[in-house]
Amino acid sequence: MLPGHFQCAACHAPLIGDAAVAIVCDRCDTPVATIDGILDFMPAGSGAHDETPADAPDRYDALHRIDDDRAAARYRDLKRLAAEHWPTLLGSVLEIGCGTGLLTRAMVQSDDAADMVVTDISMPMLRATRAHLEQVGLASRIPLTFAAYDSIEPIFRDATFDTCGGTSVLHHIQDVRAFMARMFRWLKPGGRAFFTEPNIRYHRAVGQTLADILAVLYRADATFSHGRQSLLNLIGQWRRGIVHRDDLPYLATLDDKHMFAADAFETMGREVGFATVLAIPVAHDPTGIGFVKRLCAQLEIEEPVRAAVLGLLPAFADRYLSLLSPRDRTPGFLFWIEKGVGPAVRRFQGPPAAEAAPPDDLPEVFRTGGLPARWTLALTASRGEGGIAVQVSGWCLANTDILWLRVRLDGVVRQTPVWLPRPDVQQAINATGRYASWNALCCGVDDTLTFPDDANPDDANPDDALEATAEIVLAGGSVVPVPLPAALPWDTTVHVAQ
Ligand SMILES: C[S@@+](CC[C@H](N)C(=O)[O-])C[C@H]1O[C@@H](n2cnc3c(N)ncnc32)[C@H](O)[C@@H]1O
Ligand SMILES: [Zn+2]
Repeated sequence: MLPGHFQCAACHAPLIGDAAVAIVCDRCDTPVATIDGILDFMPAGSGAHDETPADAPDRYDALHRIDDDRAAARYRDLKRLAAEHWPTLLGSVLEIGCGTGLLTRAMVQSDDAADMVVTDISMPMLRATRAHLEQVGLASRIPLTFAAYDSIEPIFRDATFDTCGGTSVLHHIQDVRAFMARMFRWLKPGGRAFFTEPNIRYHRAVGQTLADILAVLYRADATFSHGRQSLLNLIGQWRRGIVHRDDLPYLATLDDKHMFAADAFETMGREVGFATVLAIPVAHDPTGIGFVKRLCAQLEIEEPVRAAVLGLLPAFADRYLSLLSPRDRTPGFLFWIEKGVGPAVRRFQGPPAAEAAPPDDLPEVFRTGGLPARWTLALTASRGEGGIAVQVSGWCLANTDILWLRVRLDGVVRQTPVWLPRPDVQQAINATGRYASWNALCCGVDDTLTFPDDANPDDANPDDALEATAEIVLAGGSVVPVPLPAALPWDTTVHVAQ
């Protein structure tokens, strides 16, 4: 039978029934699908049910080196880090984003949980976790309910869980504050939650260090190597998430959406009502050596590149890592969160005031980090089925973080993030290192922007050249205009450079 945690997403009546059969809300008749005994709260067509070869469970385990011993060791680590906060027993547990069961298998084995609701957005992951528990004889040790769930719909009843937890999952959830507010309701008074998540400041510092090291390696030898390219792709992805960190609509398009700052997370957790929110460092790695070794293993970086990167790391890391506070010298945090037992009266400051926009009269070179912005771009406009397509490729570089290349056509704005690896630009433009290698190595754009085609076919000249403007958008919102020809011709590539 279904445990008492679930409610109908439509009318919020308690859901009763048996996941082995079908479930229908008693009050409003809304059905809940079940597939092989797994509750399915994910809409059809959401992709939640697809087997994707790219991150199939077997591959996931191999890539992340997950096995039962590692799962048990990670679980022991969690308890050690939480220290006196970890309760004797965890009671009714809700797990978010089980993946292949790294946390699930160890928690079931530990007998710490009385019962568990195990969720993930992906049906193949849930199946993998359940199959594994069956294989190792843990599937009936405690009552387990599996649910395909995206952590958004209101399917859990208030105050029915003692513990909520997950590893490496919060950073996939688009609106973490809204998730925390929902979780506050699901937890009983005195209940707790924990999550392990990446530290944004540490990733930024290591990313900048690795960019400096790669710049040196490319200078010595500019030929292609898989290892350098894999590291550069990773740095590009980190940088993209970091510079766009507050832009939820854009982050929604990425799989890895967030990294976290300890103090901001603690403040946010307290603002949604939790009594205790702690960011506990998961490791002390002030040199970055342990972290970079693990990255190299995960990315299967070939030995000469690995040796070169690790060899240069001590000389380069200090510039960024030594500026981190002692608490930030960790790749990740264990967030430990507790709901108070009674109502607390608290006053909040309200949301912080919006950051002041940089004054427009500041000379441009100050806004671009003391050096002029540079770019080389190719734009081609063409008319197609879906509207007007403007293909943009090239690169934009400034000495501050660039967020977007923005193009405006007849008053309609489209933009593309500036982030793709461009070791050739680092080589050609930045050999002396005047620009941060973090920016120069990740300055590429390559995208097709689609605009509505409002031209009336009865117009005398529907194919008149287009009026277009372009600008580079810097972190903080100020812009650098990119002069384009007065009119953008059709089907002809226009090159602009500065
Ligand atoms: C990086 S994996 C971590 C898996 C597992 N907890 C571990 O530590 O190995 C992230 C997992 O979260 C799931 N996920 C992604 N977005 C989610 C969401 N909005 N709600 C619940 N799970 C989600 C993914 O399907 C994936 O299994
Ligand atoms: Zn209902």
